[in-house]
Amino acid sequence: LQNVPLFQELSEEDLLGLAPLFIEKKVKKGSILFLEGDDGEELFLIKSGVVKIYRLDEAKEIILALFREGDFFGEMSLISSGLTRSATAETLEACTLYALKRSVFVQYMEKSPKLCLKLLETTMDRLRRANEQIYDLTFLGVRSRIMKTIVRLSEQHGIPTPAGLVINVKLTHQQLANMVGTVRESVTKVLQELLDEGAIQIDKKLITLKNIDAIKREIR
Ligand code: CMP
Repeated sequence: LQNVPLFQELSEEDLLGLAPLFIEKKVKKGSILFLEGDDGEELFLIKSGVVKIYRLDEAKEIILALFREGDFFGEMSLISSGLTRSATAETLEACTLYALKRSVFVQYMEKSPKLCLKLLETTMDRLRRANEQIYDLTFLGVRSRIMKTIVRLSEQHGIPTPAGLVINVKLTHQQLANMVGTVRESVTKVLQELLDEGAIQIDKKLITLKNIDAIKREIR
């Protein structure tokens, strides 16, 4: 727990008290953890794997966030009492998760201002990102939105390699389109342009940003 940013500021004593209250859940790839509109009873922490947060409109989906080890989610419906899950959560890979009951989480928040501050800090970051998404969807074209999305993914999920920064999540063109708010064909076209320009390379669905500075210069 000490390595999870949300709980970093808790005292040793609180951490020792909290750790046994987490319930470990091992889930397969493609499992729905909860649906938009469900009652929210637990906060989730990711030990390993990747979780997709999304909303559906008939057959179309918009991906709001991808979370990985060390991230938490499911806090919104715990805190805004009376409100239900604001989005659906599904595993993109096999995951090991830790679930914490609402009552326990609220009890620790009440006694730890540092935990509350950490939670606020993450919420502010997520709000900033959501504002960025509103801006991008309103003002930017598809090519810029795709470029910004892969830069953002490389910041959140990137692993440095000699070839460049690898986005360590296997994403289909359709999933990227669902993050950007466009259609699969546009993603395929723009990724091909970026491949031809030598800005990226793709190997087994993993995108490597070979020249992140060039991409950043274009979207600035
Ligand atoms: P909750 O509403 O309980 O269930 C869905 C969860 O997805 C939510 O809590 C947050 O943890 C997360 N979530 C919802 N919207 C966003 C967003 N725009 N950015 C990041 N995470 C989100």
